[in-house]
Amino acid sequence: MRSLAVGEITESRHPDWREGQIVLGWFGWQEIATVGPDAIVCEVSQPDLSPSLALGVLGINGVTALLALTMVGEPKAGDTLVVSTAGGAVGSAVGQIGSMLGCRTVGIAGGPTKVHRCVEYFGFDAAIDYKAEGLDEALVKACPDGVDIYFDNTSGAVSDAVLPQLAMHARVVNCGTAAIDRWDPWPSGPRVERHLLVKRARMQGFVVFDHFDRWEESVATLAQWVREGKLRYSEEMLDGLEMCPDALAGLYRGENAGKRVIRL
Ligand SMILES: NC(=O)c1ccc[n+]([C@@H]2O[C@H](COP(=O)([O-])OP(=O)(O)OC[C@H]3O[C@@H](n4cnc5c(N)ncnc54)[C@H](OP(=O)(O)O)[C@@H]3O)[C@@H](O)[C@H]2O)c1
Repeated sequence: MRSLAVGEITESRHPDWREGQIVLGWFGWQEIATVGPDAIVCEVSQPDLSPSLALGVLGINGVTALLALTMVGEPKAGDTLVVSTAGGAVGSAVGQIGSMLGCRTVGIAGGPTKVHRCVEYFGFDAAIDYKAEGLDEALVKACPDGVDIYFDNTSGAVSDAVLPQLAMHARVVNCGTAAIDRWDPWPSGPRVERHLLVKRARMQGFVVFDHFDRWEESVATLAQWVREGKLRYSEEMLDGLEMCPDALAGLYRGENAGKRVIRL
């Protein structure tokens, strides 16, 4: 199974990589990987922080949050930023970075515990439980001037509720589709074009793997925020390779409390 992992090099026949280095790369769901240099993304270069963070807030989740928000969302101070999967690894980082950039942040998450955590731990200005009744009304109340940036990690019913609330010249960051667990048959839903047209809005997809050239610079920024206590994260560590399949399925059940990491 394809997967990013952090590991220690135990043997190397490549001049750029040496035994003992801790690296992030495409090593898959396995205890020992034999790979070429192309599989390595970077050395894990923050020795004062846990190497596991290179899989979460200092890895794919944090880098996605930072680059997708800044490159596609183009936040400005005073913008209202709505984030789906706000209690998760990407969403919680997006909210905190948005706050640092002067946005008013509204998180959407499933259940009262995650909603409470969004406000109390991750510092969202407001949070909405999409599993409770009245999502449309709650959004209008939380975003009286409309939504300038929608950071969409879910698609599905949550997005169907947010898109009619876009403000003029809104930006929709199309980052994930966590609400859709299969694409065959292809799901259908409300048409979005009219909202984009009337609001002169832009919806753009983002894939972090297009931006490896900005990886190290982004990790350095995120790590500094973590050290300064400006960027909080949750990590849920599970033990053993046999945990992998259900750990992945559990993300779709919304069971995870933060970034799920498997320790081998
Ligand atoms: N484009 C990229 O480059 C990129 C990179 C990394 C991640 N992503 C995407 O970013 C999103 C978040 O990733 P993550 O790693 O931080 O995961 P996460 O938010 O920690 O976990 C996924 C969350 O999705 C929510 N969810 C599940 N089913 C849902 C539904 N039907 N409706 C609404 N929410 C639902 C659950 O939260 P609740 O309990 O709140 O429902 C669950 O905890 C994912 O869609 C992922 O694919 C994209």
